[in-house]
Amino acid sequence: MKEKQHQTVQRAIKTFVLRQGRMTEAQQRDYNELSGRWRIPYTPSALNFIDVFDNMNPVVVEIGFGMGKATAIIAEQNPDKNYLGIEVHTPGVGKLLGEIRNKDLHNLYIIQHDAVEVLETMLQDNSISAFHVFFPDPWPKKKHYKRRLMQRPVTNLLASKLSTGGYIYMATDWEPYAEFALEELSQTEKLINRYDSYAPHQKWRPETRFEQKGLSAEREIYELIFEKSE
Ligand SMILES: C[S@@+](CC[C@H](N)C(=O)[O-])C[C@H]1O[C@@H](n2cnc3c(N)ncnc32)[C@H](O)[C@@H]1O
Repeated sequence: MKEKQHQTVQRAIKTFVLRQGRMTEAQQRDYNELSGRWRIPYTPSALNFIDVFDNMNPVVVEIGFGMGKATAIIAEQNPDKNYLGIEVHTPGVGKLLGEIRNKDLHNLYIIQHDAVEVLETMLQDNSISAFHVFFPDPWPKKKHYKRRLMQRPVTNLLASKLSTGGYIYMATDWEPYAEFALEELSQTEKLINRYDSYAPHQKWRPETRFEQKGLSAEREIYELIFEKSE
């Protein structure tokens, strides 16, 4: 009984706080009109990527795309890859749905749900070629470290979903989180750091909204790339 209570408490810890931010009229309209076409409803059962994308291209998952600015650009520049964007924040989902239509993208779908639950229930093991995590919430207070996404056991879960040679890419402007994630990823079984420590700047990643905030505050950007070894 005691153990069961403990498990429930653990599962209640979320990596986000759901704020119902205001949506613009355009975001609301796009959310209503385009959700049926490009948003995959959360269901606790494995997704069949061929059914979703109608091809066998590699699948890249982005966790916490925010307003989705970088997400849409990356998908547009890489038509030979499939993208699955996961975000809980409704205005961002509305915004990215509009971008999918504006750019006429056919390789990007959205799931609006807690990414950890999506990983646990909708993604099959060894099926993902990369995870992109751009500027995850840093949770700077020590009492909130438990909410940070990039730590075990979530990194174990990420590793189990990657195919061999697949990678996890994370960028952050919060140095203590960079150090924390470097340690957690280094300690995760089956993951190997592609570099000795932080990765060099990856030019393929367009600047994100949160990156702009960090740069305006003159914070340095840290990037990490860990690869699945087997
Ligand atoms: C600091 S913002 C960064 C947004 C964007 N990547 C950028 O760089 O501008 C982090 C985002 O991650 C989302 N997020 C955090 N944990 C999540 C989870 N477990 N599932 C889905 N989204 C999550 C939050 O809602 C938030 O929009």
